[in-house]
Amino acid sequence: FSVENIRNFSIIAHVDHGKSTLADRLLELTGTIDKTKNNKQVLDKLQVERERGITVKAQTASLFYNCEGKQYLLNLIDTPGHVDFSYEVSRSLSACQGVLLVVDANEGIQAQTVANFFLAFEAQLSIIPVINKVDLKNADPERVEKQIEKVFDIPSDECIKISAKLGTNVERVLQAVIKRIPPPKVHRKNPLKALVFDSTFDQYRGVIANVALFDGVVSKGDKIVSAHTKKTYEVNEVGVLNPNEQPTHKLYAGQVGYLIAGMKDVTEAQIGDTLYLHKQPVEPLPGFKSAKPMVFAGMYPIDQSEYNNLKSAVEKLTINDSSVTVHRDSSLALGAGWRLGFLGLLHMEVFNQRLEQEYNASVILTTPTVPYKAVLSSAKLIKEYREKEITIINPAQFPDKSKVTEYLEPVVLGTIITPDEYTGKVMMLCQARRAVQKNMMYIDQNRVMLKYLFPLNEIVVDFYDSLKSLSSGYARDKAHSVGKAVCERLKESLPRQLFEIAVQAAVGSKIIARETVKAYRKNVLAKCYGGDITRKMKLLKRQAEGKKKLRKIGNIEVPKDAFIKVLRTQ
Ligand code: GTP
Repeated sequence: FSVENIRNFSIIAHVDHGKSTLADRLLELTGTIDKTKNNKQVLDKLQVERERGITVKAQTASLFYNCEGKQYLLNLIDTPGHVDFSYEVSRSLSACQGVLLVVDANEGIQAQTVANFFLAFEAQLSIIPVINKVDLKNADPERVEKQIEKVFDIPSDECIKISAKLGTNVERVLQAVIKRIPPPKVHRKNPLKALVFDSTFDQYRGVIANVALFDGVVSKGDKIVSAHTKKTYEVNEVGVLNPNEQPTHKLYAGQVGYLIAGMKDVTEAQIGDTLYLHKQPVEPLPGFKSAKPMVFAGMYPIDQSEYNNLKSAVEKLTINDSSVTVHRDSSLALGAGWRLGFLGLLHMEVFNQRLEQEYNASVILTTPTVPYKAVLSSAKLIKEYREKEITIINPAQFPDKSKVTEYLEPVVLGTIITPDEYTGKVMMLCQARRAVQKNMMYIDQNRVMLKYLFPLNEIVVDFYDSLKSLSSGYARDKAHSVGKAVCERLKESLPRQLFEIAVQAAVGSKIIARETVKAYRKNVLAKCYGGDITRKMKLLKRQAEGKKKLRKIGNIEVPKDAFIKVLRTQ
């Protein structure tokens, strides 16, 4: 294929606006996959993705399409739809020259549409707006067209109205890809310059890196170098994705495909890295950054005897997902475990679900937290920690206030789109979460778009649910309400003892909540009338065994499920 006849593009959309359905239709139309019912959403490979109906890992496919007598190679780079994966979205976008921005004809522009639009806009890509689901009864494509014009400044006549479900107008989308998206600007005669925009791990073949070639050619047997790690590898296999891997002799600049080169885990093929020939070093492509985990949680085996199994499962899963970070950790209550870092809450849930489904491991996940920074107050402390500011990913390691001049926390710019009758309530909710308003505009007659700067910690767990329910009366003093809730849960889970137990929540030395578990002795023989000694013995033995399952903290024996109830997030 001459470069003139190649197009590299992505589909971006708010969750559920129909990105995967459109991708399936494009694959069918170009004969890449058969038109059978089993093909539903071929690009969503993982079981979790199918179950949750969300795309987690980007998948890529090369399509062949004939337009006005010319054969084109269209490389479709599928991107994840959820906010947690915006880093994956932006790195896949860097392999493209254009995007299809899919908007649901019924729901209109949503927050993720806006976020994705700006990622594509900043990458200076051609943007083709596609209004999907025009077959729906309540579809209002004209209103959506106007929103697109107002918010993104794209003339309404550029919108293509389709039904991905029925296939209506999907052919026009392919024609627009050819007409409106430019071919990649590449040089085949220059030395190799390949962008790694995704990578997966195969148990038998090692790391499979998805690459977009900006310059040059790569073939089997070439010696290549990773610009990030400076490690050298020999290429074992190159090929295209149709959407399954199909080996080819070479990959040329302008093409998108895969490469296998004896890399042992995905950290060796980091997203955004540049690969070049050992003989011909080049300047790496700009914009590389390692994925930064923003949500941390403790993970422990439900039973400590499961520790080694869980360890190997976590290791295997992280081979596949370089954005998860792992630190060993231990807790007085839960034993040995890890503190894991994730891109966001959904990422964490997906990881947990994959552990359960693919490795049959059951774990306790503690309430997620965000990383904080503490700026140290004295030269002595700076020397001790060997840093001016320290990053805290574990609440148990929070340094004392006396050592710190300032604490820093991550903030995010959030977009909220709401019917205008809820604007007041939404604004109150944002203020209660310490958010600072940055912008407010009407995107049509009765929809408002708000932009706020949020402390990440305030929104990471339950903000979306609160926003959806907009229930009033949330507490401003969160420490107090959280403390009370934990004490209440503990009180319910602790068995009564021979003495009274005070359950207290404290911030520093200040007690902010208290519950009392009354004294009581459980008499297992109470139901045992008469003198059957063997039965009595049996019951006493069972009670003794039950005690083994308890853990002693001070004078109190705490059942394991009490920890789980208190620390579990769901
Ligand atoms: P993520 O993978 O989470 O980003 O979602 P998505 O954007 O890929 O959405 P998906 O293709 O899974 O579609 C979401 C739902 O909308 C599915 O139930 C589809 O069947 C439905 N859907 C998609 N396109 C159309 C359409 O044109 N008309 C109608 N009526 N429904 C559609």
